[in-house]
Amino acid sequence: MKTLILLIFINLSLFSNNIKKDVPLVSNDLYINECGACHFAYFPGLLPQNSWEKLMSDLENHFGDDATIDKKTFQTLSKFLKENSAEKNMNYKRSRKIVQSIPKNKIYIAISKTPYIHKKHKEIKKHLITQKEVKGLFNCTACHQGAKKAIFNDDDVDIPNYGKWED
Ligand code: HEC
Ligand code: HEC
Repeated sequence: MKTLILLIFINLSLFSNNIKKDVPLVSNDLYINECGACHFAYFPGLLPQNSWEKLMSDLENHFGDDATIDKKTFQTLSKFLKENSAEKNMNYKRSRKIVQSIPKNKIYIAISKTPYIHKKHKEIKKHLITQKEVKGLFNCTACHQGAKKAIFNDDDVDIPNYGKWED
């Protein structure tokens, strides 16, 4: 009996270790304050390093907004993004798929425009994406209930005014 309980326990803990995040769950307060003010603080593992560099090089014209930060903050955040970028985390499924989907000569600064992420959302009706409760594909947290925990599995999707996504 004791062995059985022990075996079950070992199995359960193995199982819980296996629930792998889609991208690395990393963060820091500075990043959340600066880059989570207007939208969800996207995990660095959602884009490769050259994308983050390009995005950070023009914060003044950031998708129509001014997102400039002081020099010290810039250096800290650039380092954080670089160290945790997608191609450093190819053992995480979504980081790997995003990197592999990008052609060599292309640099995307929007996660939602990368071929992998774009393709994954092709079957969603347009009005569900543009509706005011969502606004656009950039707003991952509006539909992905686990986004802040780095979980983007389609089982965890709940679209406003639509509900659970069934494949
Ligand atoms: C002043 C508001 C503001 C701040 C601050 C800000 N952003 Fe943005 N960001 C936006 C807007 C607006 C968009 C475009 C949303 C849309 O597609 O309509 C955007 C889009 C993005 C996207 C693309 C999302 C996608 O996949 O479509 C990324 C990546 C991003 N921001 C990263 C950052 C980072 C990193 C920082 C911190 C250095 C930051 N943002 C700070 C306003 C902001
Ligand atoms: C309008 C709601 C909505 C928004 C906004 C949204 N998604 Fe999704 N996402 C979905 C749905 C629905 C699916 C499943 C689509 C399917 O299976 O055809 C999905 C699938 C995915 C998948 C693949 C999951 C799987 O199990 O195959 C990833 C990764 C993903 N989304 C990431 C993101 C990221 C990152 C963002 C923000 C940049 C985002 N999504 C924004 C609704 C959304």
